Amino acid sequence: MNNIIDRTIAFVQHTLANAESGHDWWHIQRVWNNTKLILQEEEADVLVCELTALLHDIADSKFHNGDETIGPRVAGEFLTQEGVDPTIVTHVQAIILNMSFKASLGVRTFHSKELEVVQDADRLDAIGAIGIARAFTYGGYKNREIYNPHIPVIENMDKESYKNTTAPTINHFYEKLLLLKDQMNTETAKRIATDRHVFMQQYLDQFYAEWQGVK
Ligand code: ADP
Ligand code: NI
Repeated sequence: MNNIIDRTIAFVQHTLANAESGHDWWHIQRVWNNTKLILQEEEADVLVCELTALLHDIADSKFHNGDETIGPRVAGEFLTQEGVDPTIVTHVQAIILNMSFKASLGVRTFHSKELEVVQDADRLDAIGAIGIARAFTYGGYKNREIYNPHIPVIENMDKESYKNTTAPTINHFYEKLLLLKDQMNTETAKRIATDRHVFMQQYLDQFYAEWQGVK
């Protein structure tokens, strides 16, 4: 294993060995693949994008009392110890800190083309068939209802409400998943997102039909 990508893969697989399924190695692999797919059509630094895709969920603030600096810190320590150029390390850390949906609800402090690519790659994994599976897995982990027609959707949630919501999982479609298509940064990801968006809408139509005992 002489190349930095391979060594990063080994580190991530080892670190995420017991991760919950929404952020396990397979999520990382899908985001890495999405990143490479987007890079076929978008101009950005390939090494920075791939390293960030691999390290972006290395330590999730959700499972560390909301500490949003832990991910960038762990990623930075790893890359520095591997002898990666400090400019690249700093860039990867800045992207990880700024790319999550929660961060984007707050004030955006950093921007780069590489952030756009990896953020899109991560967002693509939150929609479509995979996105639906991840949402219900997360909801189950949090012991949420799948749906409750009496609990309305809250539109335009701020960062704190988004973090603290206990609403049913179906609400999450309206609070996040169906908004992602229009939040894609790159034209390439917008195009890929379109089909996945339509699939979620079809899923919801079918869900409500079955809920009411129709069909
Ligand atoms: P990301 O890893 O994309 O930055 P999160 O950590 O917020 O996003 O969420 C991880 C996964 O869990 C995503 O697929 C997301 O849609 C899902 N998720 C997050 N919050 C909820 C929620 N309140 N209900 C259902 N699914 C959720
Ligand atoms: Ni992710």
